[in-house]
Amino acid sequence: MADFYTDTVLEHFRNPRNAGEIEDADCVGDVGNPVCGDLMRISMTINDETEVIEDIKFKTFGCGAAIATSSIITEMVKGLTIPEALKISNKDVIAKLGGLPAVKIHCSVLAEEGIVKALKDYFDKHPEKTAPPEQEEKAKLLAAVEVHEH
Ligand code: FES
Repeated sequence: MADFYTDTVLEHFRNPRNAGEIEDADCVGDVGNPVCGDLMRISMTINDETEVIEDIKFKTFGCGAAIATSSIITEMVKGLTIPEALKISNKDVIAKLGGLPAVKIHCSVLAEEGIVKALKDYFDKHPEKTAPPEQEEKAKLLAAVEVHEH
């Protein structure tokens, strides 16, 4: 196990940051991988004026890598503006974890998708706001993946 995962992955798995769910969240993103069956829910509170993600929590029913990636992505995203958060990709998550085994790359994709889906929910609830181009692009990708998988 120690050879399979980096110390950072194991540390986040054992002491997950921002675990749980925000009760009065401004937006929520539910994602899942139909192949492994893992599920992830990302909830956020966002400052409407500054568009800063002020709080974020994750709830993950999944493998150790899914828990570690969701934990670290919440740390990376907290305090960022929406456009900044959208620039974080699963590759950044993997780099921050010091690497992931090839069979666990999709777990980091799930974490990135959770962020995108939660932010999509935010813009769905705020039709008066214009989503940044990154959001539009990523939401389209996400929709394509969902259609493809079902
Ligand atoms: Fe599927 Fe980790 S095995 S998210």
